[in-house]
Amino acid sequence: MTLHDIKMTRPSARDGAVTTPWWKKATGYQIYPRSFCDSNGDGIGDIPGIISKLDHLQDLGIGFIWLSPVYRSPMVDNGYDISDYQDVAPEYGTMQDLDRLIDEAANRGIGLVMDLVVNHCSDQHAWFRKAVASSVCREHDYFIWADATDGPDVLPSDIESVFGGPAWTHLPEVGKFYFHQFASGQPDLNWQNPELRAEIYAMMNWWLDRGIAGFRMDVIDLIGKDVGAGKLAEGPYLHDFLQEMHSQTVKGRDVLTVGESWCASPETGPLYCGEDRDELSMIFQFDHIKATWDPEFGKWKNVPVDLPRFKTTLANWQYALEDSGWNSLFLSNHDLPRQVSRYGDDGTYRNRSAKMLAIMMHLLKGTPFVYQGEEIGMTNANFHSLEQYRDLEVAGRLAEALEKGSTVEVFLEGARRNARDNARTPMQWTAGENAGFGAGAPWIDVNMNHTTINVAADGADPDGIIHTYKQLIEMRKTSAVVREGRTTFHVVDHKQVCAYTRELGDQTIAVVANMSADSVEFVAPPALCGQGQPLVSNIASRHSIDSVTVLEPYEAYAVLRNAQHSKRCCHQNGVVAQHALEA
Ligand code: GLC
Ligand code: CA
Repeated sequence: MTLHDIKMTRPSARDGAVTTPWWKKATGYQIYPRSFCDSNGDGIGDIPGIISKLDHLQDLGIGFIWLSPVYRSPMVDNGYDISDYQDVAPEYGTMQDLDRLIDEAANRGIGLVMDLVVNHCSDQHAWFRKAVASSVCREHDYFIWADATDGPDVLPSDIESVFGGPAWTHLPEVGKFYFHQFASGQPDLNWQNPELRAEIYAMMNWWLDRGIAGFRMDVIDLIGKDVGAGKLAEGPYLHDFLQEMHSQTVKGRDVLTVGESWCASPETGPLYCGEDRDELSMIFQFDHIKATWDPEFGKWKNVPVDLPRFKTTLANWQYALEDSGWNSLFLSNHDLPRQVSRYGDDGTYRNRSAKMLAIMMHLLKGTPFVYQGEEIGMTNANFHSLEQYRDLEVAGRLAEALEKGSTVEVFLEGARRNARDNARTPMQWTAGENAGFGAGAPWIDVNMNHTTINVAADGADPDGIIHTYKQLIEMRKTSAVVREGRTTFHVVDHKQVCAYTRELGDQTIAVVANMSADSVEFVAPPALCGQGQPLVSNIASRHSIDSVTVLEPYEAYAVLRNAQHSKRCCHQNGVVAQHALEA
């Protein structure tokens, strides 16, 4: 898609014309700026570095970038603790650099979606500093306080912070506790205060007026909370606030909004993004991610992926948003392990299983998001000691796991599999020093496997993973059935194979993906079977899904059938199948 196309599809919202929004044809690409490309050798990725790599993104064919926070920040949580929403962190560059990024991306037909972190700010934000200095100033009520009636040691409630430890911190100079669902350096904002909300909307409009393509909204399910009642996620005011935000900011603008919601379910999903709701374009939901975690220790204990559960969640979300609303499609981001390590095989079958995962996800209905490095099959960090981790969550959660009776070994094994730093090692551009990330020693260790896994090598290899991504990204732009086709999952109980169909008019796409390292004799139900045109594959092209197909380890392919392709054929015999294809 070119910028021209983006402009052409701008709906004339005022006269109510309905067109396919550009973000239904586009694939997103997430950049974690600290780890993408370092232009000045200080070991930290930066905006000029991103600009220098825009050709890679254009080549991939993506429609927009989701840029993780680059705002001014003490970097307690790598920028998810913002001290100035209208300035750029000096280590990442300047406002001029950012404007240049917006322009240079637009020149390549790529929009820039900014991260919006407004459930909380930094304790270094001017609002919080004023709020601490005076209990009667306007900003004091921008935060959530509790009196220390029973002294500083008696917590107002037992709510825990996401990074471990209590969600309340006592400030002697105020004589009160303040509330923070994340680190103590990330005080929650009090969305009940209308003046605060007005300031946030003004800030959002300031960014929108700069020409950005939208917002990814951090933990947005938490803003409607009622802390007193203990209702945090999907609290009572959530949808009122989202509707107000929509009417005050994005309404009438052709932009994309995607809200992060760890608690959304197929039942509540439509409330955020249903077409008549005027809230968000789509959400990031995490059912399919959480479905593979341990019930007690969460992600800190390694358990194998329960494939039937995983597929059930994907299917339920496809069905829930079938007629109204829109899905985001992802397995990776800066908070999750590398997908090839989690759901594929990052050893022998790395190339094949990375492509399998791409085929399986990208042919679903929704907007796919590629996380930096995913397109070349980057793997987990393979850290061997606690010292290599940089994420504050690791330290916070270790103490807790030990209290619960886990051991350091079990925790480290869990961290090796699931810690957020797995996705935060420097982007692997070349086989050279620091993986071509920059001239100076990076802030976090480079993965040793960069000598073989890197953009230069993958791109030069005709069998490289990136070529499958390009193919899939292109298909979404050009194929209506990829964008709009109705999804039906098949064999949901199958422990190795993921299979679904997409149907629109007389076209059907049938997808099969062997998500296991075994060769599988797959017995397909009639609805899946049939001859057609090979659409995409990770081994060799196949023209049909037969009633019995032997799938190679991690094999995935898709077949496009038109009405003239008989659906019965493969259930009869090979001769009939051949005949149907020629007919
Ligand atoms: C979101 C972000 C994560 C961050 C947290 C607090 O989950 O994706 O990186 O730590 O919110 O802002
Ligand atoms: Ca730098």
